[in-house]
Amino acid sequence: MIGQPLIEVLGLGKTVDNGGAPLSILQDISFAVMPGESVAIVGASGSGKSTLLGLLAGLDLPTTGQVHLAACNLSTLDEDERAALRARLLGFVFQSFQLLPALTALENVALPLELAGCAVGDVASDWLSRVGLAHRLHHYPKHLSGGEQQRVALARAFVTEPRLILADEPTGNLDAATGQQVIDLLFELNARQGATLVLVTHDETLAARCQRLIRLQSGQLI
Ligand SMILES: Nc1ncnc2c1ncn2[C@@H]1O[C@H](COP(=O)(O)OP(=O)(O)O)[C@@H](O)[C@H]1O
Ligand SMILES: [Mg+2]
Repeated sequence: MIGQPLIEVLGLGKTVDNGGAPLSILQDISFAVMPGESVAIVGASGSGKSTLLGLLAGLDLPTTGQVHLAACNLSTLDEDERAALRARLLGFVFQSFQLLPALTALENVALPLELAGCAVGDVASDWLSRVGLAHRLHHYPKHLSGGEQQRVALARAFVTEPRLILADEPTGNLDAATGQQVIDLLFELNARQGATLVLVTHDETLAARCQRLIRLQSGQLI
């Protein structure tokens, strides 16, 4: 490998308190992701994929081991510092879209720019045009179809031109044809931006479109 990894995971473990009894979700996970790579994390439901993605994003901290994001050990940062790093470095796409219901499509896409302290200008509406939603700028999420909501979410993930895109089963709530369109768009935007992509999926066909596979089984790499 040449250069510095964008993500480095070292001996990571996650244990949660499950009603008084410790429950081990992830054990001894180590891997690295280089800038520009596309990596699929696959595994059965309950194998720990979403937990791992949340740890990569610093939404939660590991119980043991470390996650380094852009050479920063996330465990050495407090919550505000991790939020600032996220705002600067990454875009997230969720299975359930996670748009803010009280904001229009345009306001949802503008929000990451505002949080990062960037001027919004035409940037948010340009991104909505790029995902084919120039005619839906002022719609609220509840008035958009699932596929449209996920396209808004893609625009929101890419709008700050992040170095890293994390996607957690982005087609999980969409029918097959709509899911295919969303995935084509995700890969197209990603190729154009040259971002690093970490995609969680249980769909092997989708996973095969990534350069590399990371397979989880019961919280361990196999
Ligand atoms: N905070 C938590 N408390 C208790 N159990 C949890 C918690 N978070 C996740 N789990 C359990 O850990 C396992 C892995 O969850 P998850 O990472 O969501 O898996 P996946 O995304 O692969 O379906 C599941 O069995 C889930 O029920
Ligand atoms: Mg999951």
